[in-house]
Amino acid sequence: MQPTGYPELDALLPRLAAIGSLEAEALEAERVAILGRKQGVLTQALRALPKLSPDDRRRFGAEANRLKAAFEEAFLAREGQLGTAKAAGPLAGQDLTMPGRGRWIGALHPVTRVMQEVVEIFRELGFAVAVGPEAETEWYNFGALNFPADHPAMDMHDTLYLTEGPRGRGEEGKRDEGRMLLRTHTSPVQIRVMQSGPPPYRVVIPGMVYRNDPWDASHAPGFAQIEGLAVDEGIGFRDLKATLTHFARRFFDARTRVRFRPSYFPFTEPSAELDVECQICHGGGCPACKQTGWMELLGCGMVHPKVLENCGVDSERYTGWAFGLGPGRTAQQRYDIPDIRLEYGGDMRFLRQLAGQDRP
Ligand code: FA5
Repeated sequence: MQPTGYPELDALLPRLAAIGSLEAEALEAERVAILGRKQGVLTQALRALPKLSPDDRRRFGAEANRLKAAFEEAFLAREGQLGTAKAAGPLAGQDLTMPGRGRWIGALHPVTRVMQEVVEIFRELGFAVAVGPEAETEWYNFGALNFPADHPAMDMHDTLYLTEGPRGRGEEGKRDEGRMLLRTHTSPVQIRVMQSGPPPYRVVIPGMVYRNDPWDASHAPGFAQIEGLAVDEGIGFRDLKATLTHFARRFFDARTRVRFRPSYFPFTEPSAELDVECQICHGGGCPACKQTGWMELLGCGMVHPKVLENCGVDSERYTGWAFGLGPGRTAQQRYDIPDIRLEYGGDMRFLRQLAGQDRP
């Protein structure tokens, strides 16, 4: 570099020329001595600029900056030669050879995904969403739903009771009657919806339910359900069949075969189970469908007149249908998950795989 004409700057030129022969440690010390943010000779010279006359400031400033650029270039070149080059800016001081850190990307739980899809299909059909409490009285969970007094679901070993008291269903019409329990299904919310005002009702009810069930491949003690309820004048079993068939084909595949099997629930009459063609073997028979070619999707039926009357709905004028589906089991079918404990166990390694995120 040419002399600057300023003795204090030119005094640094021999040091500039020597940079190319410095070793790593001396090089770093020299960099701090010349360009260091506090004590660097050049930094201090530039900091003194405001004290100069405007003319000197311009000329001295230009020369000092030229010298600074020359030093920076020389340091960089020597660091390059020594292999100690450091990245500037936000990467300074980082080890760029370290493996990158994976980013956390949130994903919906498979059961949540199924629930949202089910709710969405029914919303397209004009159904609203309703919710109710998880801690219920016996009357809402059993009595209002026409459970006979000796129904096994009401036993201590099937249901998780929260308060003690004599066994019973609560007297009809007395909604606070009976022991408190963790609801065993979402059906009590049917009662709450029907009590909330006059028909018609078209609702879907997602929520958690609890049973004293084993923790095995197809059972969880706490699991999700989605209830559906449609009550209006002139509703018949054909409406139930048409709507639920549409739902199953919309959810799985437009060509999926479905069948309705007779069943029993105290709160529906007649009652049925809706099966869909096994999504794994497509009807041929496989271990997942126990060689039947079918998979159970939901329980359903026409709302029992007694249930309508328990809610003050005129059963001569109004009829309706209802269904209850377990999205945990539906997610097992859809994503080919052999064990429901994988869904409700909360193991992030499994959930990440399902979300297509094998890496942490
Ligand atoms: C009922 O709970 C009825 N309330 C459904 C209903 C509503 C019928 C309205 C008619 C009208 P069920 O006990 O079969 O029925 O349970 C419904 C669904 O919940 C089952 O098909 C299953 O998918 C799921 N399910 C039941 N028990 C468990 C469990 N322990 N773990 C995971 N899912 C379960």
